[in-house]
Amino acid sequence: MRQSGHVKFRVPVLASVLAGAALVSTGAAAQGQANMEAGRAKAATCAVCHGPAGVSSAPDAPHLAGMPAIYFARQLRAYRSGERKHEVMAVIARPLSDEDINNLAAWYSAIRLDATPPPAP
Ligand code: HEC
Repeated sequence: MRQSGHVKFRVPVLASVLAGAALVSTGAAAQGQANMEAGRAKAATCAVCHGPAGVSSAPDAPHLAGMPAIYFARQLRAYRSGERKHEVMAVIARPLSDEDINNLAAWYSAIRLDATPPPAP
């Protein structure tokens, strides 16, 4: 999932993402005290590249929708520390607190995807 070019599936995002309280609490529970609503607000700055619902709008940016919270948070901390190198994401991640990262992870992991593989030949 590092490069959107490798994602060959169509991934229409369900508009009713937030309708299911059960789904929402599952995402938040995975992050302990994470605040999904705060994550949603914070994600406004990510939308220009990663799309408003986490389906990437930039050709070189990966989809974040439905990304497992643990993986998501680990990547952001790695960009922040410099362990994972990327000029743009380093600048983006630097000002984020652990709380911001957990909230963003709760938001993006709560987005549900519907993946459609290409038809068999
Ligand atoms: C200017 C465009 C841009 C913006 C704005 C941006 N990103 Fe990114 N993001 C990228 C690109 C490009 C990559 C791929 C970097 C790489 O190759 O490591 C990426 C990678 C990531 C990854 C790693 C995904 C993976 O599959 O490992 C995460 C997580 C992420 N961004 C989260 C965010 C969050 C959260 C925000 C907002 C706070 C944000 N990004 C804002 C361009 C952007």
